[in-house]
Amino acid sequence: ATVGQVIKCKAAVAWEEKKPLVIEEIEVAPPGPGEVRLKVEFTGVCHTDAYTLGGHDPEGLFPSVLGHEGGGVVESVGEGVTSVQPGDHVIPLYTPECGECKFCKSPKTNLCSKIRATQGRGLMPDGTSRFTCKGKTLFHFMGCSTFSQYTVAAEISVAKISKNAPLDKVCLLGCGISTGYGAAINTAKVEEGSTCAIWGLGAVGLAVAMGCRAQKAGRIIGVDINDDKFEVAKVFGVTEFVNPKKLDKKVSEVLIEMTDGGCDYTFECIGNVATMRDALESCHKGWGESIILGVAAAGQEISTRPFQLVTGRVWRGSAFGGWKSRSSVPRLVDDYMNKKLMVDEFVTFMKPLDEINEAFELMHAGKALRTVLIM
Ligand code: APR
Ligand code: ZN
Ligand code: ZN
Repeated sequence: ATVGQVIKCKAAVAWEEKKPLVIEEIEVAPPGPGEVRLKVEFTGVCHTDAYTLGGHDPEGLFPSVLGHEGGGVVESVGEGVTSVQPGDHVIPLYTPECGECKFCKSPKTNLCSKIRATQGRGLMPDGTSRFTCKGKTLFHFMGCSTFSQYTVAAEISVAKISKNAPLDKVCLLGCGISTGYGAAINTAKVEEGSTCAIWGLGAVGLAVAMGCRAQKAGRIIGVDINDDKFEVAKVFGVTEFVNPKKLDKKVSEVLIEMTDGGCDYTFECIGNVATMRDALESCHKGWGESIILGVAAAGQEISTRPFQLVTGRVWRGSAFGGWKSRSSVPRLVDDYMNKKLMVDEFVTFMKPLDEINEAFELMHAGKALRTVLIM
């Protein structure tokens, strides 16, 4: 009944930076060619949403519909869409996979470039928006905009997943969990018996721990300034804990002592350029690799002495855990269903969409691994 019609629904609108989101009735236009309109059932709240809302993202656009960690059901599809149909369960993807671009054809990366330009400008691939509210056009966000009961995404920006999977859990595979888990498996390619250290034990860092454990790492050392994190971290595989605030030496010195020369793999899951340096310098001479996952504030730069790299340490990073999204997310969902991957344990709170601003507060207070919103 809604096919081809404008849908009116509830959404949390970001009217301007540094202001709370406002629950509004918005209009969502039907999907254009190559697009999919979906009913968002659940969405997580992630730091990138807060970062943009906080006005820290130089590319941030307002007014907009934020959110990028969602799960939903396809309501209708635009012309030419063949890979999904109404009723399919999908996870929107901020890193799409077109399968045709230079990046998609390379096995070395997951950064599809097909719709990068328009996505960065908050628009659909044809350069327009599908959202309006009170006569104003709203921008899309990260190609997902899951803080709305209905949203429109490019066909290449949705992963069709098993209908048996609970959307209130697997929505989290749209960002944080996949990012951390993949960084250990795809980016670092952690080997059996290796010594790993993880800076920041939020959802991303804990997902890294889960990935390190899946790869049979020997030691998984958690580094966090919040002592409370160690208990929960054990559940995800962290075996030892270091609180930098309680040290009278540099973290890297302590880790190098603890590990007889340094770690095989370190992961920065905070977004702080000082801890990025610590993570690199805690790597073992000759082969240690440090992976950056945290997103630092705009304009920040990393530094170290070049000798660190000359003597064999490697600095790298990854986005969305290196997963080629459309083909990998359905497999991650299956792995969760087969109990190879934990997801439920990341859900600290569930709240109605109306309480979205409280979900942001819980995140800022460090009280939630993830809050899942019920749309
Ligand atoms: N040293 C050690 N730990 C720190 C420090 C620090 N200087 N600063 C913060 N932390 C810890 C916090 O105590 C918290 O446990 O880092 C953790 C960050 O966790 P969350 O805030 O829950 O963030 P998360 O959702 O895991 O995302 C981590 O990845 O998405 C990127 O850049 C984004 O900041 C985000 C990061
Ligand atoms: Zn995110
Ligand atoms: Zn591509």
